[in-house]
Amino acid sequence: MSTFYVTTPIYYVNDKPHIGHAYTTILADILARFHRAMGDDTFFLTGTDEHGQKVQKAAEARHLTPQEHCDDTVKRFQELWERLGISNDDFLRTTQERHKKVVRAILQDLYDRDLIYKREYKGHYCVPCERFFTDKDLLEGGLCPDCKRPTGEICETNYFFRMGQYRDFLVEYIQTHPGFILPDFRANETLGFLKKDLEDLCISRPKSRLSWGIELPFDPDYVCYVWFDALINYISAIGYRGGEEAKFAKYWAESLHLIGKDILTTHTVYWPTMLHAMNLPMPKHIFAHGWWLTGNAKMSKSAGNVVNPMDMIGKFGVDPFRYCLTAGMVPGQDASFTEESFILRYNTDLANDLGNMLSRVVKMAFKYFQGKVPPCGTLEEIDNELLSEAEKAVPAVREAVENIKLDKGLEAAMNVVRAANRYMEKTAPWTLAKKGETERLATVLYTAAESLRIVSALLLPVMPEKMKELRLSLGFAPEEAAKADYAALASSRLVSGTPMRDTPPLFPRILAEKGDAPCCRKGEAPAKKETPAAGKQEEKAAEENANVVTVEDFFRTELKTAEVLEAKKLENSDKLLLLKIKVGEEVREIVSGIAKHYTPEEMVGRTIVIVANLKPAKIRGVVSNGMLLAAKDGDTLKLVTIDGGSFKSGIPVG
Ligand code: MSP
Repeated sequence: MSTFYVTTPIYYVNDKPHIGHAYTTILADILARFHRAMGDDTFFLTGTDEHGQKVQKAAEARHLTPQEHCDDTVKRFQELWERLGISNDDFLRTTQERHKKVVRAILQDLYDRDLIYKREYKGHYCVPCERFFTDKDLLEGGLCPDCKRPTGEICETNYFFRMGQYRDFLVEYIQTHPGFILPDFRANETLGFLKKDLEDLCISRPKSRLSWGIELPFDPDYVCYVWFDALINYISAIGYRGGEEAKFAKYWAESLHLIGKDILTTHTVYWPTMLHAMNLPMPKHIFAHGWWLTGNAKMSKSAGNVVNPMDMIGKFGVDPFRYCLTAGMVPGQDASFTEESFILRYNTDLANDLGNMLSRVVKMAFKYFQGKVPPCGTLEEIDNELLSEAEKAVPAVREAVENIKLDKGLEAAMNVVRAANRYMEKTAPWTLAKKGETERLATVLYTAAESLRIVSALLLPVMPEKMKELRLSLGFAPEEAAKADYAALASSRLVSGTPMRDTPPLFPRILAEKGDAPCCRKGEAPAKKETPAAGKQEEKAAEENANVVTVEDFFRTELKTAEVLEAKKLENSDKLLLLKIKVGEEVREIVSGIAKHYTPEEMVGRTIVIVANLKPAKIRGVVSNGMLLAAKDGDTLKLVTIDGGSFKSGIPVG
């Protein structure tokens, strides 16, 4: 049996949970559920970060003590996680004594070993980030390099952790441990940061300025810096220095920290150097995902565009929200949130593909086989093809989970559903029924149901409630419906004759109330779930037009504007240009076969149109992340551009 330990960042209690918090926690939950289903000894930790200036200020504003404020606001996170079906094994609050005593023990130990020392500090301080910066760290105008807000000058005596001395160790560790920081480009970002001198880290705040924190065990006039305290949660929760050293050793060796890209430095520089000073091994993986943007803009309270997960749960339901979030982000890259794109994904993947497939199978089993799993006769080639496609998805999903590419895992599972729908069209069980070919009809329905059995197991960690419903419909016993055993997935089979369960549509389509718009837009009538009868008509029309691409299909391809920042010829190629492009806030590289038609100089500064969600591919050793659009007529090639416009980059095209 393997071991798996996954953590989320611990969230600040002063903020309301938003879609970014929900994303990381859902990702961790899905990974934990997958690993449990693979039989791994799994531990999933989340929690809240409750010390520091922001909390102290928020409590003061409410005329509460900081502890009262935390006890009240922590509930928002706990309630949301319960609502989202998060299966964490522990929830750590940094104000708990079990955590504070570990932080104190570590501080004392580092102080005794002269790894923490006292000195006067003069420099710049960013209050919202609670971080110190030197002159060279600051952006123009003295702005904070992280949040871009003004910093203040500060002169203060404080305690420092000798972080700077671990620079060479860390650089070497990162270089010799591929997979330590994921995706790879985040490892490069950290190495870039480490090119400069690494300063020692200020780990104290004088109580005269901030009292809400863990008191330094060797100086009662100071509290511990909130990040130094917070990072330790990952080990205090699993028993480090808490009398559970065996538990700690077991889980720590297999640890995965999921974080957002904005907290990369604290996790890939501060934390590893702290661990090294404590003589502890590094976490196995630190994975930084990108940001959810509202359309193309950064979510922020001031812009009023923060997406509240509770609202989305209300609109889509818990499981579809979990699915759409997971499928909607290529982990590592930024993703754009729009309600429209979620509705499209819901309708395409869940209502059309998966929901319709299930209802076709169940309805026909009820109509022709008394609501029982039909008998399986001799399998034909087409049946075996579908079954083998379903079986092949099991290792593909497993690989995606192991590489934290959950969007790819979902794609592998959904490809089986799409194959099953094609199978139904080719085998046409309704025609078999009309012709009275009952034995063949039974085999076809059995095969289709079998493919759904496998898919349902693969999707259980993502949509636990909906997949349980689906499995109950396929005749699973209630105690079996909610759990998947991946080891037995390929060897077990549905048992013919088992009573099935007829249910209303699992994923009723969501349509805008007026007209035939594919989705609901802001300011328009709210989305409503479609009636099953309307769904049938649409399904029929779709069957008749099998060669036509639906608007949902079309919008699966994300076309966006992009600005070319740099361009050069790819070595040893006269056809390929390597372009560095900006797509909204994101910078990426694409390789394009346009060198014979455009010079690098001609490309720089242009706004082009790219396929933004194309699977990255390695071309001549370079990862190309997207594809530009161009039209080719014989030997002439012309770029697709925006008509006369000077559009920003990252604007959707469609
Ligand atoms: N308390 C620290 C973490 C300490 S971990 C030892 C913290 N908390 S936070 O509540 O501000 O942010 C938690 C996480 O939410 C971070 O990983 C951050 O990247 C993530 N997100 C914040 N906004 C986000 C999006 N818009 N999209 C995706 N995740 C984002 O930082």
